[in-house]
Amino acid sequence: KMDECDRRKFKHVLPGEHVYEDILFFGYTPPDILDAVKDFEIRNDDVIIATYPKAGTTWLQEITWLIMNDANFEEARQTQVYFRSPFLEFKDTVLNEVGIELANPMKSPRVIKSHLPVKLMPKQIHEKPCKIMVLFRNPKDLCVSYYHFYRSSSSFGKFTGTWDNFFEMFMEGQVDHGSWFDYTQSWWDIKDQDNVKIFFYEDMKEDLAREVEKMCQFLNKPLSREIITKIANHCQFESMKKNPMTNHLDVYSINSKVSPFLRKGTVGDWKDHFTVTQNERFDKLYNDILGTYLIPFKYTL
Ligand code: A3P
Repeated sequence: KMDECDRRKFKHVLPGEHVYEDILFFGYTPPDILDAVKDFEIRNDDVIIATYPKAGTTWLQEITWLIMNDANFEEARQTQVYFRSPFLEFKDTVLNEVGIELANPMKSPRVIKSHLPVKLMPKQIHEKPCKIMVLFRNPKDLCVSYYHFYRSSSSFGKFTGTWDNFFEMFMEGQVDHGSWFDYTQSWWDIKDQDNVKIFFYEDMKEDLAREVEKMCQFLNKPLSREIITKIANHCQFESMKKNPMTNHLDVYSINSKVSPFLRKGTVGDWKDHFTVTQNERFDKLYNDILGTYLIPFKYTL
């Protein structure tokens, strides 16, 4: 069993890591970008995808983009999802991919992705009637998914840690974009704001067409049953894994041989990773921080 001392010992250093308002970030989210994001100009018809990393962001981006663009499958098959739906706080100087710069000239309606907690979001999200779709996923599955992403993506530096090491980092919020617990609390706190709606990964796994329909309603974009079925089929795990515009196979930082971006896409994978002790510790921390929130995660924590 790892004690407090061992936990401190293992701390993976991210390339360009820095702490911004108590949150750990890597170099692809530098301080100047975080400053600029706060003043980023929101449009009334923007749709924002708000997720902690590995909650199923890309899945929701693809669905939302299709809903907002009248199910334009042709265009969806031609352009990478990360160019159709920019990552707000991302800055890659080598590829010259800067989220804000992609978003600014983009025609409306924009579908913008962000992993930021509420306090670091553009101030205007509280003033303008833009729509915010928050996606939650069982944090244990999310943690496992993040571990495999750390292993496969060089963006996080050369991560040679074990699952046990990553588990400790996650528990302490010592990962890119900081604590999942704080993140989740921040969004749950504003869930009753008119323009905010929370969706669950597990609900999407249970019945994707049903959830797509709910999304259409929230976005005021009624689509026929036929089109909804088409969107759901296009966005099934196996279809997205085959689709070069969504599978991220050509994203240079990801070594798909270590772990592909569309890895498993299942519910309950945590059971193959968490030890009994880790599970108990996770539940305790969850209950200490979020216990009173009664967030209806559909899968037993
Ligand atoms: P796993 O690692 O558990 O497979 P994000 O886009 O936020 O980085 O999340 C990535 C996770 O969402 C991965 O989880 C990935 O497989 C899963 N995912 C992506 N598209 C999916 C889909 N169409 N259906 C189910 N899961 C999907």
